[in-house]
Amino acid sequence: MIDFERLAAEFGTPLYVYDANEIRKRVRFAKGVFESLNANIVFALKANGNPAILKVMAQEGIGADVVSRGELLAAKMAGMQSIVWNGNGKQPEDITHFINKSIEYVSIDSLEELPLWDGIDVIKLLRVNPDVDPHTHPHISTGLKTHKFGVSLDKIGKVVDRIDGLHVHIGSQITDVDPFLEAYSRVYDCARKFGLKFIDLGGGWGIDYTGEQLDIERLKAGTEEIFADYDGKLIAELGRFIIGPAGYLVARVVSLKPSDKIFVVTDAGMNTLIRPVLYDAHHRIKTLKGTGKTVTVDVVGPLCESGDVLARDRRMEVPIPGSVIVFENAGAYGFSMANNYNGMPLPAEVLVDGEDYRIIRTRQGIEELFSNVKL
Ligand code: LLP
Repeated sequence: MIDFERLAAEFGTPLYVYDANEIRKRVRFAKGVFESLNANIVFALKANGNPAILKVMAQEGIGADVVSRGELLAAKMAGMQSIVWNGNGKQPEDITHFINKSIEYVSIDSLEELPLWDGIDVIKLLRVNPDVDPHTHPHISTGLKTHKFGVSLDKIGKVVDRIDGLHVHIGSQITDVDPFLEAYSRVYDCARKFGLKFIDLGGGWGIDYTGEQLDIERLKAGTEEIFADYDGKLIAELGRFIIGPAGYLVARVVSLKPSDKIFVVTDAGMNTLIRPVLYDAHHRIKTLKGTGKTVTVDVVGPLCESGDVLARDRRMEVPIPGSVIVFENAGAYGFSMANNYNGMPLPAEVLVDGEDYRIIRTRQGIEELFSNVKL
């Protein structure tokens, strides 16, 4: 059991805390799922880009999916080997930088981007848009033809001699198996038809925020069936599944404000964890020191917006003011989407490894907010 009170006392709040053993366990589990398919697993750094965390993953032998020079640097600092460069807005002047850093794959997002890669020595995947609805929140759905990503499957024929494989990613936090299998089989049919030797299956595995879960056994069986006779290489880009449940956000209760319902005011706001505001996301909250009363509350942050709500109409034990509460499943898209709104510094991050723990990112200082300002 992680002693969140102690970590909060030592490092202050808001604080992101990660469990190294849970990360290792989840990487090994993911590897097990793809074992018979011999897939290359890469971690999507957008979910969490702290190099100390990435190092735990690199030691387990997985690579990186990066979208920027910043993420590439983090992956390299962590010693991640196999790297995929993704994105729909790559700048031509970044290509030399990425190639010099020996990336293994590039996912090309459009036919317009394709000529940039002619003659460049890298494994070229073309992102396809299979027009499959993943039944997830509209902001994190990516595989419908109305979305900005990828090229429709009927356009691939014209360019097969300029690419090595295909890439598909239909969305994130998907808990329904069928859209994955539908997308995989559409992409496989196309790859087989044109003899393409690489397929990147993207990420998207949903985790248990609310009790709803992805049936990974069924996904595994279905994926094995689809690719049973494939003699090419598969790649999987998992983000949330690996790091989401291995991370927690610890916040201190600043006050309790009775109104129509109680507002539990914490020192974490939507600057610290933006997911509830952006996607109506639900993060379970643990009260560590409670008043013994369980009622419906709004857990809110300190920012100057009514929308700064981390949990709305939540039934929970009312915490004692001054104690800390813990948001679960906060490892993915938590710190990585945190920001400086209202002049709030970015939180600190701690990595717990069995009995040991250490700070892996110190809290941002307020002077740092202005270190690049010219008066
Ligand atoms: N591959 C590509 C091309 C992606 O765009 C993404 C996520 C992943 C892999 C990893 O997906 P995952 O396994 O984590 O679902 N900020 C949102 C999630 C945005 C996902 C963006 N792309 C959230 O907090 O829910």
